[in-house]
Amino acid sequence: MNKLKVGVLASGRGSNFKAIVQKVDNARVEVLIVDNPDARAIAIAKEFDIPCKVVDRKKFDDKFSFEREIINILELYKVELIALAGFMRILSSNFVEHFKWKIMNIHPSLLPSFPGLNAQKQALDYGVKVSGCTVHFVDAGTDTGPIILQSVVPVLDDDDPETLSARILEEEHKIYPFAITLFAQNRLIVDGRKVRIKDA
Ligand code: GRF
Repeated sequence: MNKLKVGVLASGRGSNFKAIVQKVDNARVEVLIVDNPDARAIAIAKEFDIPCKVVDRKKFDDKFSFEREIINILELYKVELIALAGFMRILSSNFVEHFKWKIMNIHPSLLPSFPGLNAQKQALDYGVKVSGCTVHFVDAGTDTGPIILQSVVPVLDDDDPETLSARILEEEHKIYPFAITLFAQNRLIVDGRKVRIKDA
């Protein structure tokens, strides 16, 4: 079977990266790119023998040359899908256009509610009774692209950001690998704001 070539971009812990590596059968992570030399995701790449490239923003004069380096690596590995997994930088519209509808992200809320940072705390502060996570294609906005999959969890009265994050993270580790599996099966069709799943 010809596996889809995936590149993962991460900045931190890397638990979604690990879930993708372990759970997606019809795709292969060809390369992990981190913008942070201390990212814990680097150790996971070593564990699974996946090439890892550190592209440290501080070493580049501007965003353009930083992103150019990332594009060069992705092209070198012939990546067909980019999965953002806790990547803490906003990609320019140039980058997003370059890989149109070939970049996915996971966000720990039910978008369009609570985009941006600290989504779980935003949900708690607002007082919602359910929250969850969203896998979406990336467009030029922040967490605004067409939604592929969502999963819902309850918000409990005694939740704090840590307990809610842990409950949501379990769902993240299910729906992100599933969304990539569907992409690799060519079953995701972007139609305006909607993502249709063929033969759902
Ligand atoms: C996850 O909560 C994800 O939804 C958000 O950043 C976090 C990354 O966690 N985008 P990890 O590095 O995958 O463990």
